[in-house]
This record gives sequence, structure tokens and C-alpha cells, in this order.
Amino acid sequence: MVEAKRTAQARRLVITIDGPAGVGKSTVSKCLAGRLHYGYLDTGALYRAIAWKVQQAQLEPSDLAGIELLLSRTSLQLIPEEDGFSIQVDGQPVMQGELRTPVISQLASSIAVLPIVRDWLLPIQQEAGKAGGVVAEGRDMGTRVFPGADCKFFLEADVNVRAKRRQQELAEKGQSVQLNAVRDEMVERDTRDRNRAIDPLRPAPQAIMIETSQESVDDVVGKMMGIIADHL
Ligand code: DC
Repeated sequence: MVEAKRTAQARRLVITIDGPAGVGKSTVSKCLAGRLHYGYLDTGALYRAIAWKVQQAQLEPSDLAGIELLLSRTSLQLIPEEDGFSIQVDGQPVMQGELRTPVISQLASSIAVLPIVRDWLLPIQQEAGKAGGVVAEGRDMGTRVFPGADCKFFLEADVNVRAKRRQQELAEKGQSVQLNAVRDEMVERDTRDRNRAIDPLRPAPQAIMIETSQESVDDVVGKMMGIIADHL
């Protein structure tokens, strides 16, 4: 495994991790990137950053002309850091806390159905992964953004388990939310993400499926490390 880790570091692979909300993508991706000394690319944060701008401009997700104009006046940069990328919108760092609200979650999913938004974000994401050595997390990493990725994973978990995990995360941030409300929000978002016409959430044909309902983060990351070693 140590040898495989060294080879993975030398080869600078592109690893994609897709899956629905609350499945543990972020935790697992960060942990895997840390173990491989790769950058962590959180593409959901990019959709959230655009959603935040749409909200600030008081635009509706149905206002295509308004969103197109907004995008034409927006600059979004991914600045490489030691362990990933920080995001700057219009030259200012984004406030992660402002991006992680339930309203922005739904708005991000709503604007993510729009081809203008997806096409605008595509080259930004691809540029970030160009040099390799990246663990990219999202919904269409293996299917659209990095179709030639070296190793593709798709995480799944029971919706009740995902809702409980998300409720726990919110509780740790001091937010008390009813389980039913968390689950309903997730189901609504997943249904939209899975059924949109362009780049829907679905496993890439070569993706390795991992069911995380009964697994700890360490177990999942350990499994991934083994699979990556086999791909080297
Ligand atoms: O991963 P997240 O919960 O931060 O993503 C927020 C929303 O952004 C998600 O509901 C759908 C959209 N998204 C997307 O369409 N494609 C991606 N690669 C990442 C996120």
C-alpha cells in the first residue's frame, strides 16, 4: 500500500467521486485527497457560489437572460492551495458559511439544471484538474467534467442514513433541524439533480459503486485506496 501511495503521488491521477447529497462525499474526498497528498476540488461549492450571486442579485432561477448577464459580469477563480483550491468570486474570497445554508442548497440545485450555468463552470473545473493530482467531488465528475479520469467512484447510501448524517452535521454547527425536514430537502434536491436533462447525477459507466450506509469514513477511504492501488 505504501508503494502504491508513492506511485499515486508520482503519477498525479484524477480521481472522481460522485453521489447524492449527504452521502459523505466531502468527508471521504477530503480524507482521500489528504492521504494521497492531492488537491481536493469541491465542485458543489462552485454551484453554491453562483447561487449566492443569483440570490444577491435577486434573480429567479427561471430568469435565463438575467442569469446569463450576471455570469457575463462574474469572474470565478480557483486558487491552488496546498491541500486544494480556495474560491474567489469577483476577486473576493467566498464565505463558506454563507454558501452552506438550506436556501443556497436548493438554489444551487435549481440553477444547476441550466445549461448556461453548467457550460460556464465546465472549463473552470477542467482547468483545475488539468495537471492531475486531484480528487474531484460532485454530481457529474465522472460523466462530464473528467470523462477520462483514472479512477471513478460513485457513493450511495440509504436516504434515512444520509438525512441522519446531515442532521448531525447541522447539530454540530449549532443548528437544530427536524429529521423529516432534512430528509424532504434532500429528496427534493436529489430528484432534481437526478432528473435534469443535462449532466444528471448518475454513475459513469466505469464507476465503482460504494454503498456507505454501514461503513465508516475510514472503511470507505481504505476501500478506495485499495482500488486505486489496483488501477496503478
Ligand atoms: O455537493 P453540494 O451539495 O454542495 O452541491 C450543491 C448543488 O450543486 C447540488 O444539489 C447540485 C449542484 N451540483 C451539480 O449540479 N454538479 C456538480 N458537479 C456539483 C454540484
